[in-house]
Amino acid sequence: MAFYIKEQQNGIGEKFNDLSTNDKNLLNEYFKIEKFYRYALKEMQAKIENLDNYCETSFSHNPIHHIESRIKTPENIIEKIHRRGYPVTMNSIKEYLYDIAGMRVVCNYINDIYQIIDLLSKHKDIQIRFIKDYIEKPKASGYRSVHVICDIDIYVVGDVRVVPIEIQFRTIAMDMWASLEHELRYKSKNVYTEEEKVNLKKYSDDLYNVDINMQKLFLKKTEGDIENDWLWFSGRKMDQNGL
Ligand code: GTP
Ligand code: MG
Repeated sequence: MAFYIKEQQNGIGEKFNDLSTNDKNLLNEYFKIEKFYRYALKEMQAKIENLDNYCETSFSHNPIHHIESRIKTPENIIEKIHRRGYPVTMNSIKEYLYDIAGMRVVCNYINDIYQIIDLLSKHKDIQIRFIKDYIEKPKASGYRSVHVICDIDIYVVGDVRVVPIEIQFRTIAMDMWASLEHELRYKSKNVYTEEEKVNLKKYSDDLYNVDINMQKLFLKKTEGDIENDWLWFSGRKMDQNGL
């Protein structure tokens, strides 16, 4: 039986032994299309790196510090389907799980985040589904980032696949806080006192103030400098200048 062919080849099939037959059947089906999520991440990464390079050569500014990406593990796919109460079907995977392909784009300044999202939204093969702006409205925990949930068209052997990706945009400071808080609290069972929660939120606010001040400094130092006119750059201006 072609059961978990891919996982068994990798020698990690046993870890799915506890799953129900329904869950196993679903994962078997999912493994047939997992590659499309990987292709989607590769294409998206290339697009964002090209935007960064364009900005470097046109404006002497790199908006992007670094990019990370991951595919949701099969265990987490099954866990999320059950946690959300979705039917154990491929349709649930395709319709509701838009974070199977996940990308994190860490930017230098807050403005860079919005500029890159704006530029990305102009790509004809990317359709933005919705945006969760946790910078404008941080989570109660103090979490800040902008989540862009979009579809990207992937051309495979003459066929087009529309694949969802969740892209988390954040600054270096926001990434520092989120990475540590993720370890300390978000995915842990540790219990936190009210005071500790207030402190964690305060550290996020402090880092946000640093972000704002660094942004102001950057703007002051580059103001009026045509080469570095990144802030005033917009799609309209790009057209006008024939860039
Ligand atoms: P999931 O079921 O976890 O995907 O949540 P969701 O679909 O409600 O989406 P949400 O907008 O809450 O964002 C989920 C992702 O954002 C998580 O997987 C984390 O990477 C990140 N995230 C959201 N809230 C927090 C937080 O309080 N702390 C940290 N460190 N990360 C967070
Ligand atoms: Mg998620």
